Amino acid sequence: MPLNIDQIADMTTELGELPPTMLAWVIRAEREGQPTDAFKLEEIETPEPGAFEVVVRVMAAGVNFNNVWAALGTPVSVFRSHPDEDHHIGGSDAAGIVWKVGEGVTRWAPGDEVVLHCNQASYEDPEVHGHDPMAAPSQKIWGYETSWGSFAQFTKVQAQQLLPKPEHLSWEEAASYGLTYFTAYRMLMDQAGLQPGHKVLIWGAAGGLGVFATQLCKLAGADSVGVVSSDEKGALVQSLGAVGFINRNEFEGMMRKGGESEEEEKARFAESRRFAKRVKEILGDSPDIVFEHVGKATFPTSVFTVKPFGKVVICGATSGYDLDFDVRYLWMRQKQIIGSHFANAWQCNKANALIQQSKIRPVLWRTMEFSEVASAHQLMHDNKHLGKIAILVGAQECDTGRTAQGPRAITAEVGA
Ligand SMILES: NC(=O)c1ccc[n+]([C@@H]2O[C@H](COP(=O)([O-])OP(=O)(O)OC[C@H]3O[C@@H](n4cnc5c(N)ncnc54)[C@H](OP(=O)(O)O)[C@@H]3O)[C@@H](O)[C@H]2O)c1
Repeated sequence: MPLNIDQIADMTTELGELPPTMLAWVIRAEREGQPTDAFKLEEIETPEPGAFEVVVRVMAAGVNFNNVWAALGTPVSVFRSHPDEDHHIGGSDAAGIVWKVGEGVTRWAPGDEVVLHCNQASYEDPEVHGHDPMAAPSQKIWGYETSWGSFAQFTKVQAQQLLPKPEHLSWEEAASYGLTYFTAYRMLMDQAGLQPGHKVLIWGAAGGLGVFATQLCKLAGADSVGVVSSDEKGALVQSLGAVGFINRNEFEGMMRKGGESEEEEKARFAESRRFAKRVKEILGDSPDIVFEHVGKATFPTSVFTVKPFGKVVICGATSGYDLDFDVRYLWMRQKQIIGSHFANAWQCNKANALIQQSKIRPVLWRTMEFSEVASAHQLMHDNKHLGKIAILVGAQECDTGRTAQGPRAITAEVGA
């Protein structure tokens, strides 16, 4: 029987009860490939909450680059992370309503309106108690390294993943920011030790991570320069508080492709040097911090450009993960490279409070229908988006779910 996607927002099941099946966008191992091929709509069993777990009715979901990787099946298939399930329901951001709680959950009750952070770890791992859940051997990103993510009518999460939904935001605004914003928060505030007066270079400043890194710098009293691929994106970045932007098309020659000859590398390095000079001109000095997630193409430039004793903080590698760079610039100038991955629940709660206070605002590019989950990921794969994309799931239309007055998300108006 064909699935009726028009009924995605209909809910006749009472709070505290779950229907036997639900609609979900599913990736299966045999379909891995371009997002539009990999994601298919399926009717699938609704998960029941276990101890300290919660099933949330998804009102809106957020789109992230991680499920572009999940669709492609690279650099590793997600089924390696959750081998016990043959389905992958992706989606690592959501806003919704607590529908059913498992044994032991006392802080949350059916009916509570929440946003979700995407880190999971076992309560039994000692790292969770006193060190950092991100260090736990059981640590996984929900909706990427686990199934039961947010591209479905219901999602299953650990109770510690729940955060209060900012009341002034609509469902889609609230669903849009968690993964990238909380990642940017840990990278800058904790890992790199951002201070007032610091100067920061932000790659992909109009992208999912970049729009929040830029706002955090402004809030902290640090000057940032954003790298973007169009002047329209540059205008967005400046409106978020950057002191300037650089259009990377003017420096195409600095991008590392890999396998360069000695001569080509010399020419590439000359372009990196020209770029570093431009960064210094805009910021008034070399950056104390470089905010990295592009990887292979930009990493040699990042290490060269950061100030002596400065920090390159990195959480991803969109252009390739086998990085190489001239290490002399690292040791002679005593620079640091710091890896960072998502955030712990404490950091997520602190960062969420800044959204509740409207000190940081979501940057929403487009809200799409549930039927468009695959094409939303294709847009992201093709770098045709900026800021964030949200998906309506249980919410029937945009702009619902606000229960208080306050500034809305910033709307990013350029892009595909
Ligand atoms: N470890 C973690 O916890 C974590 C969390 C979030 C994201 N990530 C990873 O971080 C990366 C970025 O995520 P995102 O959500 O910010 O993605 P995004 O929204 O696609 O933004 C990334 C930006 O990087 C720029 N970019 C892409 N390819 C580039 C290249 N070859 N050279 C220079 N710039 C390039 C693009 O901006 P312009 O075209 O305007 O320059 C793009 O807007 C992804 O690989 C993602 O998987 C990791």
